[in-house]
Amino acid sequence: MTAVEDTTDSEATGKVPPRYACGETFVPKGRYIDPEFLQLELDRLFTQVWQPACREEEIPDPGRYCEYVIGRQSIMVVRQKDGGIKAFYNACTHRGMKVVRGTGCAVDGDLRCEFHGWRFGFDGRSSFVPSRDEFLSRSREAWSLRPVAVGTWGGWVFISMAENPPELLDWLDPLVTALAPFRLEDMRFRWRKRTRLAANYKTVIDAFIEGYHTAGTHPQTLRPTQGPRPSAEPAPPQEYVYAPYTPTTAYRNHSRFIYTARPDSGDRDSARKAQAARPEVFANSMQYNYLEVGSLVTERDYRAARQLARMEPGEVPPFVLYHQMCEELALAEGVDYPRMSMQEYFAGNGDWHVFPTLVILVEKSCVLGYRMLPDAEDPNRCVFEMFSLEHFAPGEVPETRWLEVQRWQDHDGWGELPTQDLRNIDAIHAGMHSRGFDGLWLNTAQEMSIRNQHAIADRFIFGVDDHDA
Ligand code: FES
Ligand SMILES: [Fe+2]
Repeated sequence: MTAVEDTTDSEATGKVPPRYACGETFVPKGRYIDPEFLQLELDRLFTQVWQPACREEEIPDPGRYCEYVIGRQSIMVVRQKDGGIKAFYNACTHRGMKVVRGTGCAVDGDLRCEFHGWRFGFDGRSSFVPSRDEFLSRSREAWSLRPVAVGTWGGWVFISMAENPPELLDWLDPLVTALAPFRLEDMRFRWRKRTRLAANYKTVIDAFIEGYHTAGTHPQTLRPTQGPRPSAEPAPPQEYVYAPYTPTTAYRNHSRFIYTARPDSGDRDSARKAQAARPEVFANSMQYNYLEVGSLVTERDYRAARQLARMEPGEVPPFVLYHQMCEELALAEGVDYPRMSMQEYFAGNGDWHVFPTLVILVEKSCVLGYRMLPDAEDPNRCVFEMFSLEHFAPGEVPETRWLEVQRWQDHDGWGELPTQDLRNIDAIHAGMHSRGFDGLWLNTAQEMSIRNQHAIADRFIFGVDDHDA
C-alpha cells in the first residue's frame, strides 16, 4: 500500500500521485470511491475554499444562527445586531462541545453552551464563564469563539476556513459580473428539500453540471411537439439529432454550460428549429419545466407560457415573446423584476458550477439550485439539497423550511425530470466500484466541467496548477 504513503504526508507535494492523476479527458475512479481521497479533500480542499453555508434569509434577525457542517467541521453563522454576519468554529472554548445545533435563535442576547453554561455574544466574545476565578487566566481571545472568514454574494453566506482566503468576489469570478443583472440576492426560497444519497458528492455534482445526458436521461425534453407532458420513452439513436448541444466553459475556479445548437449542425436539426419557431411548441417546454421540474419557470411564467401557446406564429420568435410576457406579467403583479438586455441574459443564463458544492441554473424569474456535501468518512454517501429561488412581489414571499427526507424515494414530489436524475445516482456510483471500470472517460466539449473541477481540486490537494504547465 505505497499509495497511502504517497499522499498522506501533511503538505501538498506539487505532484499528483499516479493513482489520482487525471488524463486530458480521464478521471480515475479512486477520486470518487477511496476513503483516503475523501480525507484529502476534507483536509486540504474544504479547509481552503469559499463555500456557501446558508442563504441570508435563513438568518434574518440578530441572534439567528445556522450551523454548517462540512466533514468533521461545524461552523456557525450568526446574524449580528448591526445586521452584519459573523462565522465561528462551532466548538465551545471550554471542552469543545458544539455551541449550536442546526438553526435557531440565541436567547437573552447570548449564545449558550449547554454543557456548563458558558456564554458568548453574537460577536463570539466570551460573555459569561461560571466560576471563572477557578480557571487559570488566559487571553480574552482564548475564551472567545474562534472566527472563520465570512462573506456574502447573491444572497448566500459564504465561509472559508483558510487563514488568508482570497477576496470572495475574486474567487467567484466571473459569476459576480455575469449574474449581477439577475439580482440573485433579491430572490427568496420557493421550496427547498434535503436528503441523503448513496453516492460520492461529486458523482451527484457531475450529474448536474453537464447537459450531455439530456437526451439519454430526459428524452421527453426532445419532444415538445407532443405537448406539455411528452412521452419519456428512451430515444432511439436517430432521435439524438434533436439532442441539445451543451458546451462547457471552464473558468479558473468554476464552470458553466449552456444549451445551444450544435455549431456544425447545418440542416440536421432544421426540423427542430422549425418546430421551435411555433409558439405552442416553445410554450410546451416551458410548461413542462413548471409542471415537472418545479423551477426554471415560475407559476407566473407558466401563465405566460399558456398564453403564448394560444398565439399564432409571427415575426417575433416565441422565445423573445415569452420573455416579454413574463416581464410584463411580473411588473403588473408588483415584482421588482430584473431588467436586462438579451445579451446580458445570455451571458448569465445556464448551468453554473460554483465550485465545489453548489450548482445553479439561472433564469430571470428564478434559480434552480443544488448543493452536494460530502460525508465526513464515507466516500459513498453525501447530502443532497435541491431548491428553487424566486423573485417575489413584496409581501408575497412564502414561509418555507427544509423538507428533510431520509430516502429520496420516500418523497414523491421531486417531479419527473429530477426523479430521472435521482434514479441514476445509486447506479452510477455503484457502477464505479466495478472491477471492470477504471475511471471516467469524458466528452471534450460537453463534459469538461467535470475535468475542470478535478483540476481546481488538484491545486488545493496536491499543489499542482494546470495553468503553470
Ligand atoms: S463545554 Fe461548553 S461550557 Fe463546558
Ligand atoms: Fe438531468
